[in-house]
Amino acid sequence: SILEMEVEQINKGKYEHYMQKEIHEQPESLRTTMRGRLIRGGSSKGKTVLLGGLKDHLKTIRRSRRIVFIGCGTSYNAALASRPIVEELSGIPVTLEIASDLIDRQGPIYREDTAVFVSQSGETADTLLALEYALENGALCVGITNTVGSAIARNTHCGVHINAGCEIGVASTKAYTSQIVVMAMVALAIGADTISNQARREAIVDGLIDLPNKLKDVLKLDEEMKDLAKLLVSEQSLLVFGRGYNYATTLEGALKVKEVALMHSEGILAGEMKHGPLALVDENLPIFVIATRDACFSKQQSVIQQLHARKGRLLVMCTEGDAESVSVGGTCRVVEVPRVEDCLQPVINIVPLQLLAYHLTVLRGYNVDQPRNLAKSVTTQ
Ligand code: G6P
Repeated sequence: SILEMEVEQINKGKYEHYMQKEIHEQPESLRTTMRGRLIRGGSSKGKTVLLGGLKDHLKTIRRSRRIVFIGCGTSYNAALASRPIVEELSGIPVTLEIASDLIDRQGPIYREDTAVFVSQSGETADTLLALEYALENGALCVGITNTVGSAIARNTHCGVHINAGCEIGVASTKAYTSQIVVMAMVALAIGADTISNQARREAIVDGLIDLPNKLKDVLKLDEEMKDLAKLLVSEQSLLVFGRGYNYATTLEGALKVKEVALMHSEGILAGEMKHGPLALVDENLPIFVIATRDACFSKQQSVIQQLHARKGRLLVMCTEGDAESVSVGGTCRVVEVPRVEDCLQPVINIVPLQLLAYHLTVLRGYNVDQPRNLAKSVTTQ
């Protein structure tokens, strides 16, 4: 009805689509995710993190033999993005499970495991089934959801709400960045009892506090990504190469392009390039390479060289100021993003890809907020 349409327009404010609104909301949603949780303690204690829903279980988590992240779609990708920092700060082995695959295999879950269920809606059928399975197997079950009172929030032993605010666009955007921030905070909380990584933890807390501002900066790439979308609008396929902290960014970026722009896209772990993907490289297929500053930077520079040597059509994402060192003599298009603490860089790096997917969708004339055949919450198996 006309009334419904008017209400929708009010909800979307100055934006044309929910996905667009939710992408641009991220400086605010990240702030709400962190609100009241980052504490600048007394001089001796330094900066710490306080997660009310987890604090009584931290001892058990620290004693667990393994942390298993379980989720589907974007929520799985967020867990993948967070794995390195959770491993680093906890010292506990971290594995990842796509919920349906865990169920299909009836994979091993033990009493000594901490199973972390990541779900924006808190209602995804596969994730819920995996939760029942983990409960039966006696694991400590932690929920990370955006929906207070959801099935996953209710049925886990403890957990953290991401507080990103209601997400309406079927393609998850602001929930993804808030999930990563929450998992970084979980890593800080688990690691808070060790002195050895105190400086690293404080640097991450500072990085988190500054993250909303950096997110505001990266959103300034909107027009640039729209131009890039114009360039790519008629392509059949887009590859995204990355590694380390940003392997997840490749999968999530490709997922956005697939699900809303209805364009084939694949995230590729750059370390696997020579084991297959290199055969696809020619002068036509566009390849997005993520090469922001971290311990893997020089490896990514060499990936760029090798792709260039095979005449690959490259677009490179790099840290501000690095354009020259990644563009092989100015031959490839470069997108510069602000630098943050390495483990938080995925929160920044996904944004240009979200914007690209959004603009590609609009230009290709597809439904942004409700892509064909997809649902916001998949409550059937
Ligand atoms: C659906 C949605 C995705 C989402 C996935 C997992 O496929 O379209 O955007 O990432 O479900 O949803 P959840 O609510 O469990 O995070």
